Amino acid sequence: MLITLEGIDGSGKSTLVERLRATLADLDPVITREPGATWVGDAVRRAVKERADPVTEALLFAADHAAHLDRVVRPALEAGRLVISDRYTDSRYAYQSVTLEGTIPSPLSWLEALHAGWTLRPDRTFLLILPVEEAMRRIGDHENREHFESPEILARVQSRYLDLASADPTRFVIIDALKEKEEIHAFVESAIRRLAEWSRTSRRS
Ligand code: TYD
Repeated sequence: MLITLEGIDGSGKSTLVERLRATLADLDPVITREPGATWVGDAVRRAVKERADPVTEALLFAADHAAHLDRVVRPALEAGRLVISDRYTDSRYAYQSVTLEGTIPSPLSWLEALHAGWTLRPDRTFLLILPVEEAMRRIGDHENREHFESPEILARVQSRYLDLASADPTRFVIIDALKEKEEIHAFVESAIRRLAEWSRTSRRS
């Protein structure tokens, strides 16, 4: 069972992941992330920091995904583990479809073609949604802001996320990230428990 967590910067994903790590320990999940689950993540971070051109950046994010699948996700799924990934392919579809605009004619189609045939589709994706002004407030004024962390970009990224969700409503669960952190955590935790239970019983039968 592959579960992914998505949302714009400042949506509260990191806090959610840390809480899930603590409360789902009995399910022994593999909790992982993109970018940075393998050494390729270092190259991605460097490209982002040095403001590489958008094609280089997109290809490095995709390379990071390939290595992540090969080293972490596929082996864990083959061993029957529950995998929870903080960001996954929808991050590329949402962020890079914005950053590649003006460089490539149809960025989303290009990105989908780039992933076709080798990526794995998540079983469920929890998408945190919140007003961009609130996300910017939560990100704060820290010095190392990534170039994605501007209200204009994040608004466009979030609207791409919502398009992805409406195109695939059975996979996406949209969460109001303005709700209390405890409430969000309790909801996602119980949803994951139900999915894990369902996956265990359907494997048995
Ligand atoms: P990261 O520094 O891990 O931050 P976060 O805690 O928000 O996940 O993520 C790096 C940034 O990279 C984040 O702004 C989202 C962006 N990103 C992409 O643009 N494309 C991708 O495919 C992924 C995985 C992340």
